[in-house]
Amino acid sequence: MISLRNIEKHYGGVTALNQVSLDIGRGELVVLIGPSGCGKSTLLRTVNRMTEPSAGQIIIDGRNALESDPVLLRRSIGYVIQNVGLFPHMTVRENVAVVPQLLGWDKARRLRRADEMLDLVRLDPHKFGGRYPGQLSGGQQQRVGIARALAADPALLLMDEPFSAVDPITREQLQEELLRIQRDVRKTILFVTHDIDEAIRLADKICLLRDGAVAQYADPDTMLRQPADAFVAQFFGQEPALRRLARYTVADFARTDAASLAAASAALASGAGSVPHDAGARTALSKLLGGQAALAVVDEAGAVVGQVSLSDLTLAQPADRAIAA
Ligand SMILES: Nc1ncnc2c1ncn2[C@@H]1O[C@H](COP(=O)(O)OP(=O)(O)OP(=O)(O)O)[C@@H](O)[C@H]1O
Ligand SMILES: [Mg+2]
Repeated sequence: MISLRNIEKHYGGVTALNQVSLDIGRGELVVLIGPSGCGKSTLLRTVNRMTEPSAGQIIIDGRNALESDPVLLRRSIGYVIQNVGLFPHMTVRENVAVVPQLLGWDKARRLRRADEMLDLVRLDPHKFGGRYPGQLSGGQQQRVGIARALAADPALLLMDEPFSAVDPITREQLQEELLRIQRDVRKTILFVTHDIDEAIRLADKICLLRDGAVAQYADPDTMLRQPADAFVAQFFGQEPALRRLARYTVADFARTDAASLAAASAALASGAGSVPHDAGARTALSKLLGGQAALAVVDEAGAVVGQVSLSDLTLAQPADRAIAA
């Protein structure tokens, strides 16, 4: 889908990007991460040419992006940033319809599309469509930002720290929403973050940048298990096995065979602990570290759907939620 070849960006004497080459497959969510100033935003912005690279090639769907009309290119790519940048004097619905309007869609079609997109990000269009951005919470504004970026149905979405300005709980909800939306609409997404857990949770692949160059480009498991060098290992920190769990829910590790179900039901009936199937795997870990040998895994209705114990959480290859589905 996207192929970046030997991208360089120099600002006077500063090298912001140094020979960056990266291939991103259709429908992949690639996270750019790295220390402040390492070039994440600059790299993201070269893709829609908000920043012109000093050297290198950008191929999107077989076409040389550096030879396309930059304005048309930008309209064809969704872009979401930290403080959203909604137009304060336009309603939520009008904000979402901005790119379709630029593309010349008629009014009825673009407003219908805006409402569809608000539904997609779980904002009731009847309730929120007529409000102004200042009448929304930070998390709601961020949802509108995502709806707006998706409105013209771009194949590619660029997101620069989209969830950095919201509180941790809202942030987790937005991450969950993004994964859900991604399962529905399958965009190619380039996502910048500072947050290691966010990267591990969301990414199909992570690109770690250091001083404008690629330190390692791999899927999260590989990155955590086989860091390319000491910088990568240090960046991801002391507890790679714990960090990995951020990617998974309890359901990914649960045993669901008949014997496990029977054992879990019996244990539950005699007062043993349980954990929701869609809880994060780390929730199960902390409960298990509390001393239980195994937990019953339950669904929304409280029915037993599996069992999980400590040894399950150490499995190398649980079902991968982000890639499956
Ligand atoms: N317009 C500019 N003029 C001069 N230098 C710039 C410009 N934009 C970025 N830089 C420099 O390029 C380097 C990379 O910046 P960039 O914004 O891409 O970093 P980043 O990884 O996104 O950092 P952060 O995590 O803090 O957002 C930095 O050294 C920065 O100072
Ligand atoms: Mg940045």
